Amino acid sequence: MAILVLGGAGYIGSHTVYELIGAGRDVVVADNLVTGFRKAVHPKARFYELDIRDRKALDALFERENIEGVIHFAASSQVGESMKDPLKYYDNNLWGTNCLLESMVAHNVKKIVFSSTAATYGLPEKTPILETDRTSPINPYGETKLAMEKMMRWTDLACGLKYVALRYFNACGAHPDGVIGEAHDPETHLIPIILQVPNGQREFIGIFGGDYNTKDGTCVRDYIHVTDLAQAHILALDYLLAGGESNTFNLGNGVGFTNKEVVETARRVTGHPIPEKLLDRRPGDPDILVASSEKAKSVLGWSPKYADLETIISTAWNWHRTHPHGYAD
Ligand code: UFG
Repeated sequence: MAILVLGGAGYIGSHTVYELIGAGRDVVVADNLVTGFRKAVHPKARFYELDIRDRKALDALFERENIEGVIHFAASSQVGESMKDPLKYYDNNLWGTNCLLESMVAHNVKKIVFSSTAATYGLPEKTPILETDRTSPINPYGETKLAMEKMMRWTDLACGLKYVALRYFNACGAHPDGVIGEAHDPETHLIPIILQVPNGQREFIGIFGGDYNTKDGTCVRDYIHVTDLAQAHILALDYLLAGGESNTFNLGNGVGFTNKEVVETARRVTGHPIPEKLLDRRPGDPDILVASSEKAKSVLGWSPKYADLETIISTAWNWHRTHPHGYAD
């Protein structure tokens, strides 16, 4: 039987497909290639170009392939864009997931692992964040992801669909072999933007805000390597296939780095001075976002391998240095 990865041509999806195939699994990938890249799809995966809002195309896929479980990455994922165009997020993330769950239930496929986010918490009340903490999103991206979690909970109660929601903190890094990596257009994430400076594409890194309530005044984030995230999806899927109940897990390293510390680490990794400039705050940035991932460790047996930020940035640098224009190179 096969695993269906929706959004398997995107950043975290493509890395998960590589790990699944490395573990000997049969993998089907579906992606509309709006933000994903055909070149990012592992050559051993069977690929379908489709949009999950196309119910007929989804039904045809479930009829043709023998799917035992779904990993769902197919969603819009930019906080800033979601503030400007909230309905795009309701359409792609919520309506897309609605179509998907209908098709899954109709074809008796009732196991799903999906990307949720730290953005479901909004402005956290304490550090580190636990799965039981208050969820109060402050942007449509986090709001639609939380609504996707709830959609699955009610579908579980009504139809017995079992889900695992994985709430990622800051995904980063690239495949250790350098075959695939992070490529967004436009890029908004800190590490790839920093690396544009040593790549000659940007003169300095602008740091958003220097007056946060942190040790050096810049925001603190919990950076987790994309391969560690990929492994967590496989563990979550196996947990469901073994009969596990629906569940929610944070995924982070449990260690926070300030934006200035990330820049400093990138200087060490690249050997480039990477000039920095302090800019105004970016709206909607919480001071500190650090996960407690103890639940994923104890229930799923997850054990992140890339705890060290220097190693994480080295894998990112290896990809960006050799692919300065992403998959166009
Ligand atoms: N930052 C800069 N300069 C830049 C880009 C980012 O200073 O050019 C700062 C941000 O202000 C923030 C930190 O770097 O303080 C990290 O920003 P990212 O955009 O890389 O990541 P976020 O923490 O904003 O977003 C991540 C995930 C989202 C998720 C969110 C939860 O990428 O999917 O955490 O709040 F929703």
